[in-house]
This record gives sequence, structure tokens and C-alpha cells, in this order.
Amino acid sequence: MASKINWGIIGTGAIARAFASHLKLSETGQLAAVGSRNRQTAEHFARQFDLQKAHPSYQDLIDDPGVQAVYISTPHPMHAQWAIRCAEAGKHILCEKPIALNQYDAMAIIEAARENDVFMMEAFMYRCHPQTLKLIELLHQNIIGEVRLVCATFSFNAGFHPENRLLNQALGGGGILDVGCYCASMARLVAGAAQGMNASAEPIEVKGQALIGSVTRVDEVAVAAALFPGGILAQLATGVLCNQDNCVRIYGSEGHIHIPNPWVPTRDGGTSHIILCRDDEPLREIPVESPGPIYAIEADTVAACLDNRQAIFPAMTWDDTLGNMRMLDAWRAHPSPAWAAPQGALR
Ligand SMILES: NC(=O)c1ccc[n+]([C@@H]2O[C@H](COP(=O)([O-])OP(=O)(O)OC[C@H]3O[C@@H](n4cnc5c(N)ncnc54)[C@H](OP(=O)(O)O)[C@@H]3O)[C@@H](O)[C@H]2O)c1
Repeated sequence: MASKINWGIIGTGAIARAFASHLKLSETGQLAAVGSRNRQTAEHFARQFDLQKAHPSYQDLIDDPGVQAVYISTPHPMHAQWAIRCAEAGKHILCEKPIALNQYDAMAIIEAARENDVFMMEAFMYRCHPQTLKLIELLHQNIIGEVRLVCATFSFNAGFHPENRLLNQALGGGGILDVGCYCASMARLVAGAAQGMNASAEPIEVKGQALIGSVTRVDEVAVAAALFPGGILAQLATGVLCNQDNCVRIYGSEGHIHIPNPWVPTRDGGTSHIILCRDDEPLREIPVESPGPIYAIEADTVAACLDNRQAIFPAMTWDDTLGNMRMLDAWRAHPSPAWAAPQGALR
């Protein structure tokens, strides 16, 4: 077997830890080094994950000749800067979602990857999971007839901590960018697959509304309605101050599909289920086996597509990333300035 890819991680937060622990179980990758803004934080992380190298800056990590691929796990506003620096240093890139704050920054990252001939993928891990492949297979079979409506929700209550990245405008706070991006990506995937495509579809129109916090000035809870070609509607809901039922339901002319765990179908491997409710049949649970931990599958997807320089659908291709950012731009443009929660109303 070819030698394993040496990964470096930029940032030492919550998702960096999850990725580092799963990477140990990947078939194709191993963690070689970490970079932090702070030497002690890097050293602490390196001790925890048994790493030889702890870099006291992100640039040092990027310049490390022993690192082939970099996983970027900073808050969203820093993704573009570090992804472009990685590309310029000839390092392959797996960058956390959303890849950037808007479509234009995403274009700059993709251009840097193209110019420097490196791999680049936006880290929507659910797109690498076999459950998503199974969903596409069902839609290609028209199993619920003509798809009319996709309802996708990803929303949680992080508690009112305005300094935290989830509510801090300077750190890209708000539900739409943090987890609404999953809902947009799922609606686009379903609208494409429902029309037999092996790619996401792009909406004709997106209308949004949001509760903008009077203290935070970010979208604390948000919804969107979108219309796709072929007459498919999408209804999206997200938020960082409101627990909701995080699922996807797809309604068609002959039944509906319910995905109880669309975003993290299985964290550590095992079986997940898609529920099929055809109008003329008893409800059916379709099991999907996962080969391993979700972030290990993601790292192995990178390895499998490395020579292609971008992922293969349903993992995030460059066009998919650009389309998703365009949809998020449209969603975020809409929330009318009309409603800002009165002081304290959304705590
Ligand atoms: N795919 C997934 O399942 C998933 C899940 C959660 C989050 N995410 C994404 O991953 C990214 C990070 O999320 P997280 O939850 O891991 O965040 P987090 O726990 O706050 O960690 C972010 C890390 O980024 C670094 N950082 C650089 N500049 C920073 C700044 N100005 N303020 C705070 N931290 C800064 C810090 O590492 P150093 O101090 O070491 O430099 C920090 O530990 C986000 O873009 C998020 O959307 C993805």
C-alpha cells in the first residue's frame, strides 16, 4: 500500500480534536503536526495526540516540509487567508465549512488551488458518508415519484455567550454560516439528484428571514424558502439559539423520505437509517453501513481524490462549493433589517 498522507492541522479547537482523533483510524492518513497561534496550546495538543511536531504559528505549520495536506479548522473568517497560504506553499487543503464568508472569497481559494495545482475540498463530512450516496441512489430511482419539497433543518441552542464565535460577528457568527450551510447544501443536492443529476442544482430564487440579535447583530435563528428548476421547493431552518428537530424530509408525488440523522449519520461507524414512506406501502427503514468514523471517511475521501485535485460528487466539488456560497450569500442578503430582537429577547 502507498505510504500514508502526512496531515497538519491549523487550529486546536473543538473540531480539530474530533478530526485528530478520527484521523488515527483512517486508512490513508496520519497526523504529523499541529499549528496554533500559541506555542503552549500547540504543545498541549501535540502531547494529547502523540505528535512529534507542535508549531507556534500557522505559517510554521504550512512551511513544514513533512506536511503534505492541511486541515484548516479556524473560525470561518480566517479560512480564506490560510487556505490561500497553504495553496501557495503547495499543500493540499481540507478546509472547514463554510469555506469562506462569501462566494468571492471562495473563488479566490479555488483559484489559488488551481494555480498551485493542489487538492482542495470544503469539509462537509456528511457528503462523504455512504448514507448520502444511498439517498442519491433512491432519488435517482424516483422512489417517491416527482420531488416537490425538501425540508432541511440544522439548529441548536449554544446558550447566550456573545463572545463565542457562534454569536460573535467578528468571528463570522450566526446560524446561516455555521449550520444553515448544511441545509443549503442538502437542498441543492436533493434538487439535483431528483432530476437525475450527479451534481447539485442551483436555486432560481432564495428568500430569507432571520431574527437578528440586538446585542450580537448576527442571525440567531433563520429560515429560507428557495425555488429550484423543475419545480422543487426547499424550506430551510437554522439557528444557534434554538434547538430544533435536526432532520431532512423530502416530499414527492408518491411518498416521502425522512432522514433522522442527515448531518452526522454515524459518528464512529455503524448503521444509520433512511426512512422511506411510500404512499402505497408500509413504512420501510433502509439501513446504511458506515465503514468507520465520519472524519476518517472524510480524510480517506481526500486521499481517494487527491490526484483529481478536487472531490467527486457528492463530496464537495469546486462548483458545488461556489454554488453553496452563492446560495448562502442570497440567504444572508435577504433577512430584512426590519426585525432586531429587543435587548434580551433572544437569551
Ligand atoms: N465539520 C464539522 O463537523 C464541524 C463541526 C464544528 C465546527 N466546524 C467548523 O470548524 C471551524 C471551527 O469550529 P470549532 O467549533 O472547532 O471552533 P473553536 O472550538 O472555537 O476553535 C477554533 C480554533 O481556531 C483557532 N483560532 C484562530 N483565530 C481565532 C480567533 N480569532 N478566535 C478564536 N479561535 C481562533 C483557535 O486555535 P489556536 O488557538 O490553536 O490558534 C481555536 O481553537 C468553523 O469554521 C466551524 O464551522 C465544523
